[in-house]
Amino acid sequence: MKNIVVLVSGGGTNLQALIDAEKSEIIKNGKITCVISSNPNAYALERAKNNSIETAVIRKKDYHSFDEYDKALAELLLEKKADLVVLAGFMTVLGEKVISAFSNRIINIHPALIPSFCGKGYYGLYVHEAVLARGVKVTGATAHFVNEICDGGPIIMQKAVEVKNGDTPEILQRRVMEQAEWRILPEAVSLFCQGKIKIINNIAVVEE
Ligand code: GAR
Repeated sequence: MKNIVVLVSGGGTNLQALIDAEKSEIIKNGKITCVISSNPNAYALERAKNNSIETAVIRKKDYHSFDEYDKALAELLLEKKADLVVLAGFMTVLGEKVISAFSNRIINIHPALIPSFCGKGYYGLYVHEAVLARGVKVTGATAHFVNEICDGGPIIMQKAVEVKNGDTPEILQRRVMEQAEWRILPEAVSLFCQGKIKIINNIAVVEE
């Protein structure tokens, strides 16, 4: 059984999808053992507590430098014996120490179809604002491994979602969550926990 540590910053609906998927055994061979938040007031922490999952808070601003923060987060993840780290709405960029300690063992959910609408500055509602401003007709979500390039790691799963006339960023965000994020993130986590994802030449190949 793989230990899954989930990093959060906000509402935690993706965390909830993971908790529900663990209960309904959509996630096979994995257990959420700890939830770590960058924000002490994140509602995601309540979701963890309601499900008797251990929690911790780590804030970048409590450290003198980004390097110290990076080292502390890497140590915390090692102390929690994480086999897999999931970024579920985690709004702080990870440092080199965490990324190298968990190479191809960190999964992020991004609310667009990478390589569109991704990279620096594209997070949360900003992504959906940019999608609407450009007028694309299809968006979606991407579950991918995290490497040193922002939103640039191997892609595990993607799901497309229709953009509709009259969408606001909030309405579109909700549709992308419901139709894509809450489905593909638990599936990608389950595939990882079952050892069904191989990385070949920086491409994630999922066993059929
Ligand atoms: C989600 O839409 C997630 O994809 C996005 O933030 C939201 C968090 O919601 N993450 C990013 O933009 C990361 N670059 P949640 O806290 O309800 O899961």
